[in-house]
Amino acid sequence: MQRSWLELRIVSRRVEAEDVVALVLASPTGGDLPPFSAGAHIDVEATPQLVRQYSLCNNPHHRGHYEIAVLRDPASRGGSIAMHDGFREGDLIRVSEPRNHFALQPVKSEALLVAGGIGVTPLLCMAERLGSLGAPFVMHYCTRTPERTAFRGRIAKAAFADRVVFHHDDGPAEQRFDPMALFAGAARDADAYVCGPPAFIDWVQAAAGDAGFPKDRLHREYFAATAAEDEGGETPFQLRIASTGETIDVGARESAAAALARHGIEIPVSCEQGVCGTCVTRVIAGEPDHRDMLMIDTNEEFTPCCSRALSPVLVLDL
Ligand code: FES
Repeated sequence: MQRSWLELRIVSRRVEAEDVVALVLASPTGGDLPPFSAGAHIDVEATPQLVRQYSLCNNPHHRGHYEIAVLRDPASRGGSIAMHDGFREGDLIRVSEPRNHFALQPVKSEALLVAGGIGVTPLLCMAERLGSLGAPFVMHYCTRTPERTAFRGRIAKAAFADRVVFHHDDGPAEQRFDPMALFAGAARDADAYVCGPPAFIDWVQAAAGDAGFPKDRLHREYFAATAAEDEGGETPFQLRIASTGETIDVGARESAAAALARHGIEIPVSCEQGVCGTCVTRVIAGEPDHRDMLMIDTNEEFTPCCSRALSPVLVLDL
C-alpha cells in the first residue's frame, strides 16, 4: 500500500486543552482535499525522520480542511513534541491522504462511543456523522480533569451536545465512567467504538466482555501500540516470495519488514507499530501471528512491520 503525500498549510493552530493543540490544515492553493470518512487518520511528517498517525476530527462533510489534535507526550518518541514546538501557523507540512481502519459500521441500532483522553478525535468525527444521519448514539468522554478535555467548547455548541457525557478521573466518584453499566444496558445489536490509550481500551474491553457484549461489535482504535513483547527474542520463521520462490529467514530479533529489506524488498512502512496499515501485505499461504492493532483477523494479509508467523513459512504475494 503506497502512500500518496499532500503538502498542506497549517491555517490555524490553537491550544485546545492542557497539552493539546489543534491544527487545521488546508491546501495552499485552496480547493477541496481528498475525501475521508469518520474514523479516518492521516500520517503526518513531524520531522523528515518521524511520521506519526493522527485521526481527523473535523466533520467529514467539510471538504476544504483537515483538523487534527496533538497531545504533547513527553514519553513519546519525539513526534508530538516536534509538532508542539516546531509547527506554526503558515507552515507547510507533508501529510498522507486519509485512510480508515476504524470505520463506522452500517447503522443498525444505537452506537456507543467511548473516548479516553485524546482518543476523542475519531469519535468526535463519528459523532458529527451520526448526528447528521439522525442516528441514535451516546458518547462517553473520559479525561483526567476538565482542563485536559479537548473540544469541550465545540461539543457544548454541537447539535449532539446532549448525547455526550463527560467523566473526569479527578471528579466526584458518582460521575466516573462505569463501562459495565453501559454495556450491560446496551442493545445486543449496538456497535461500540472505543479509542484511547491501550490500558483504557483494555479496561473497557474487559468490562464489555464481562457484561456479555458481543466481541465482534466492539471496535477499537489504539493511538499507540503497546510495547513489543520482544525482550527475549521471538521464534524465527521464513517468508517465501511467491513471484520468485525466494525464501527469506526472519530472525528472532528482526521484523519481517526488516528481513525483506535486507533482501532488497522494500515494503512501505510508517508507524512500525501495527497502527497505521501502511505495510499491510497479502499472504497466499501460512498462518500469520497478528501483532497489529488493526484487528486483522484473516490469514490473507498481515503487517510485516510487527506481525510474525504461527506456521514455519508465510508465502507472500510479492
Ligand atoms: Fe504501520 Fe505496519 S507500518 S502498520
